[in-house]
Amino acid sequence: MTSRYREAYADWRRNPEGFWAQAAREIDWITPPDQIFDAKAGVYGHWFPDAECNVCWNAVDRHVAGGRGAQDAVIYDSPVAGAKRRITYAQLLDEVSTLASVLQNLGVGKGDRVIVYMPMIPEALFAMLACARIGAIHSVVFGGFAAKELATRIDDAAPKAVLTASCGIEPGRLVPYKPLLDEAIRLAAAKPHAVLLLQRPQVAAAMSEGRDHDWAQAMQAARAAGARADCVTLKATDPLYVLYTSGTTGVPKGVVRDTGGYMVALKWTMKNLYGVEPGEVFWTASDVGWVVGHSYIVYGPLLHGATTVIYEGKPVGTPDAGAFWRMIEEYDVTALFTAPTALRAIKKEDPEAEHLKRYKLKNLRTLFLAGERADPATVDWAETILGVPVVDHWWQTETGWGIVGNPVGLGLLPVKHGSPTVPMPGYDVRIVDEAAQPVPDGKMGSIVIKLPLPPGCLPTLWQNDARMYESYLAEFPGYYKTADAGFKDADGYLYIMGRTDDIINVAGHRLSTGGMEEVLASHPDVAECAVIGMKDALKGEQPCGFAVLKSGVTRDPAVIEKELVALVRDKIGPVAAFKIAVTVARLPKTRSGKILRGTMKRIADGDEWTAPATIDDPAILDEIKASLQAKRL
Ligand code: COA
Ligand code: AMP
Repeated sequence: MTSRYREAYADWRRNPEGFWAQAAREIDWITPPDQIFDAKAGVYGHWFPDAECNVCWNAVDRHVAGGRGAQDAVIYDSPVAGAKRRITYAQLLDEVSTLASVLQNLGVGKGDRVIVYMPMIPEALFAMLACARIGAIHSVVFGGFAAKELATRIDDAAPKAVLTASCGIEPGRLVPYKPLLDEAIRLAAAKPHAVLLLQRPQVAAAMSEGRDHDWAQAMQAARAAGARADCVTLKATDPLYVLYTSGTTGVPKGVVRDTGGYMVALKWTMKNLYGVEPGEVFWTASDVGWVVGHSYIVYGPLLHGATTVIYEGKPVGTPDAGAFWRMIEEYDVTALFTAPTALRAIKKEDPEAEHLKRYKLKNLRTLFLAGERADPATVDWAETILGVPVVDHWWQTETGWGIVGNPVGLGLLPVKHGSPTVPMPGYDVRIVDEAAQPVPDGKMGSIVIKLPLPPGCLPTLWQNDARMYESYLAEFPGYYKTADAGFKDADGYLYIMGRTDDIINVAGHRLSTGGMEEVLASHPDVAECAVIGMKDALKGEQPCGFAVLKSGVTRDPAVIEKELVALVRDKIGPVAAFKIAVTVARLPKTRSGKILRGTMKRIADGDEWTAPATIDDPAILDEIKASLQAKRL
């Protein structure tokens, strides 16, 4: 089939508002949009400014009303808890409307923030939808973050309530959440009024009188009273959620997602980008704590009337490298979306794909990858063993959906390994130099998107228009700065090669090296430090910290290095995967005092490097190399 992509993209180019007005017809509005885009509102404009709607209605009630009540909405499979569960759309409506009334009883209403700090269990999805139902703004925090990171988010969002569970389950260890949450609330200045906690059988959490409420008891009481909350009317421009993501400093950015534009964009992608039909099973193997989980575990599939999958497990070790194939067979999955690192983990354990021989993946049509660069070797391996198209696509927490992809629903374009393919309608992607001038095809530059961003992308940062402007819009006037670098080829295919800021990507997780440096610098023996992302065959990158000790420190450097590793785990969390700290005598700097992180990275990666002309003392680079060699890195 020839792809309709060029036609769709040209349609959007010709008449962007007409394109999105057409896409908006797929949504059940309370007040349909009259105006499609208001360029004068907000930081760069607002989509569907006069429309009213409710996301939960579109994701749940609408399907029950439309005859999908008996269809599975959610499949939960947890090899780590030994649990499986199917939830129909009718049951989902019951769970969500009851939980929404519990939230109302806790004093949560329209515009209030609710932090969701939960593992990959269906209740996390119920919590998000219950908030959406009553117009509360959820902010999901990934379970791998430590108390301090959680406290930072609590302080910024000032939530009325926190929804949590007694534990997460990592292979071989339980992660009790309540002590982390209690510590975070102790650290935070903004104290939530209520905590609603789901006791899981693996860990019993201690409850505080007054503030803490038992999830199961509250649900039981609401059911006994027949209490259910209705969907409230929201403006399309009202926030649905705030999702914190790593910024260039240790303070995360609160990415705001609106209500109407997000629905329009996600619904469009389910059919046109992912090629999925309502009623089919769409599995995103990520976590609800990340944007990929928000958009394609929760909202996208449910808005589309598809069945979504919540998998509480890993690609390997739960119990083996056949886990993904078992899931695809057992639940008739038509499309799997995961991060390349998950495939590299499977490939490392089972390079010949022996486990795959035990399963029949008869419904699988496409494998989608995102979250980090899909290296050609991994894509090639996956295509060979699965025999289906492997489609990389590039996006960010900020955009909420794919900027560049291969639109399976419009007809697959030829796949070029190493490229996530072409810009989706809505995105005018340019490669520019420092002066915002276009660079020729094949030449690396900064990747920017011409404003306005399409529906679904962030309208701003939480209560911080100034930071939104400074972070994304100031450097290239008229454009959104993605902070990714790359190039375009003569066919218009994009290649995304790396970040232009201090963000690194570890196992598909976005982390700030600046944030890690702040932690290392807080150690009493550290005078100065630098953290870089070192190449890693499995995780793409892994953080590596260099620390110069204060003069007069006589303690064993090896002990201090261990303390630094423990400190990052304690302050940021295990998700930082910070395992390498190296004490060095000096850090390489330019004559103006700028630390040469780029050159340090090239040395650590074993790439070719030369001492920059501006370096203060080139001998320091050899010292860095020798320190890494001494550690066999
Ligand atoms: N709660 C608590 N701890 C968590 C956690 C969670 N939700 N998720 C991860 N961690 C911990 C891990 O247990 C690990 O701890 P350890 O240092 O004690 O071993 C640490 O954080 C680092 O985790 P990770 O980098 O994920 O490494 P891993 O060895 O556990 O797993 C992969 C490696 C490749 C299997 C895994 O990273 C993976 O499946 N990645 C997919 C990424 C993804 O879905 N990204 C989302 C964008 S699409
Ligand atoms: P996050 O906001 O956590 O989704 O991380 C977004 C960042 O991950 C992007 O800015 C890229 O640096 C990187 N990224 C995500 N998807 C891809 C991809 N398909 N190819 C290359 N890099 C990617």
